[in-house]
Amino acid sequence: MIDLDVVTRDADPAYKAWAPKSAELFDKARQVVPGGAGSSARTIPFGWEPYPLFVAQGLGSRITDVDGHEFIDYLLGLGPMILGHRNPTITQAVVEAVQNYGTCFGLPYELEIEAAQKVVDTVPSVEMVRFTNSGSEAVGSAIRISRAVTGRRLIIRFEGHYHGWQDTVYWSNHVDPKLAGPITGPRPVPSGPGVPIELEDTLIVLSWNDAESFQRVMAERGHEVAAVITEPAVLNTGCILPLPGYLELLRSETTKYGALLIFDEVITGFRFARGGAQEWFGINPDITTMAKGLGGGFPVAAIGGTKEVMSIIAEGRYSHSGTYNANVIQCAAVSATMDLLAEPGLYERQRALGFRLADGLTEIAGNLDIPVRVEGLGTVFQMWFSEKDIHNWREADAYASEELFNQWYREMLSRGQLFHPNHLENLFVSLVHTDADIDKTLQAASDSLAAIASRR
Ligand SMILES: Cc1ncc(COP(=O)(O)O)c(C=O)c1O
Repeated sequence: MIDLDVVTRDADPAYKAWAPKSAELFDKARQVVPGGAGSSARTIPFGWEPYPLFVAQGLGSRITDVDGHEFIDYLLGLGPMILGHRNPTITQAVVEAVQNYGTCFGLPYELEIEAAQKVVDTVPSVEMVRFTNSGSEAVGSAIRISRAVTGRRLIIRFEGHYHGWQDTVYWSNHVDPKLAGPITGPRPVPSGPGVPIELEDTLIVLSWNDAESFQRVMAERGHEVAAVITEPAVLNTGCILPLPGYLELLRSETTKYGALLIFDEVITGFRFARGGAQEWFGINPDITTMAKGLGGGFPVAAIGGTKEVMSIIAEGRYSHSGTYNANVIQCAAVSATMDLLAEPGLYERQRALGFRLADGLTEIAGNLDIPVRVEGLGTVFQMWFSEKDIHNWREADAYASEELFNQWYREMLSRGQLFHPNHLENLFVSLVHTDADIDKTLQAASDSLAAIASRR
């Protein structure tokens, strides 16, 4: 347990001298906001030691803290700022829509159709879509809809994936292998207190990228499975890509046994490609959950699916409700974001930029004999400090050095580069980062990794 009373008092003096105003605000914040920040992902136990930096403002690919440090931002709000901070087109679209229409009516309106149509046109498997407020809400609905459609109860999910904080899925994220048992047949472990343990019977948890265990479980219990939910690439354990054929297997086995396949594209959506990971890998799920990139930084999420699946809502057999669903701010943001993402050549250009950064990091570390694995698809990746490839949570837990990553984070932060301090998160490259940003980051990386190498 963290003694919050001593964190700022005992913080590393050099850090405190470097970020005194953040220290002051953190002291104030923790009196009224638990942990001193509005989401646990921004607090000390998640890696923001000795205390999180407080933000003054963000613009484009840059963010400035209250002590006046400017950073090239690879945190990007944990993903949503896909078009950079304060994107003028999206901001203007939202402001105008609110000024011209209002915010929410408890009735449908035309802009909602426009936003929905653009998402349907963008994401390959999505034929109908409902907007909602957060990724966790979207996933909660996806799980319940899959049960309602199939009349089954069992959900298969994977260790190391995160699907939001709802009871049904808040299990076995960064699970302690000692509690979860063998990798070939892990036990579901709730990710925190307060989750009803009875829900264990509704879940099968498997190790990801392991075709054999998935096929075995489907052969035994496939007819009981309502849905298999997966991140199509794991972005909640650093970055782990699917092995060739694995997503195809999830697709073919779910179809074979009449279960639904849910792609949780809250992070991968609009990021790996405009149509998300499903476009990139060429696999269509039955249900897709989206958030983050969807609204270009405005809070919006969505659940999309085939007409067949979504007909349960359309026909009134399933109530998907929410006072703030599809409000004006969301629909204006989605509509403007979808337009901007449609710029020809945008993804190709930014993916190339991201790959230049990733390849540059691999080369710099290699020249210094620091073992790293940079895994990702351009606009999102992680640099694992690991001698071995990582294919699932257990391997991340066993092989990736948290200690070296902490050093890397600190060295880069002091050189004007911001990303999440936790090695199980990742680095986001926005669609507005420039070649000059990447050059600066590679220079900072060269100096940072040299400093780490000199201490080894
Ligand atoms: C893959 C995935 N699903 C769901 C969620 C939950 O989304 P939210 O934080 O908007 O509730 C997240 C959040 O990071 C996520 O990464």
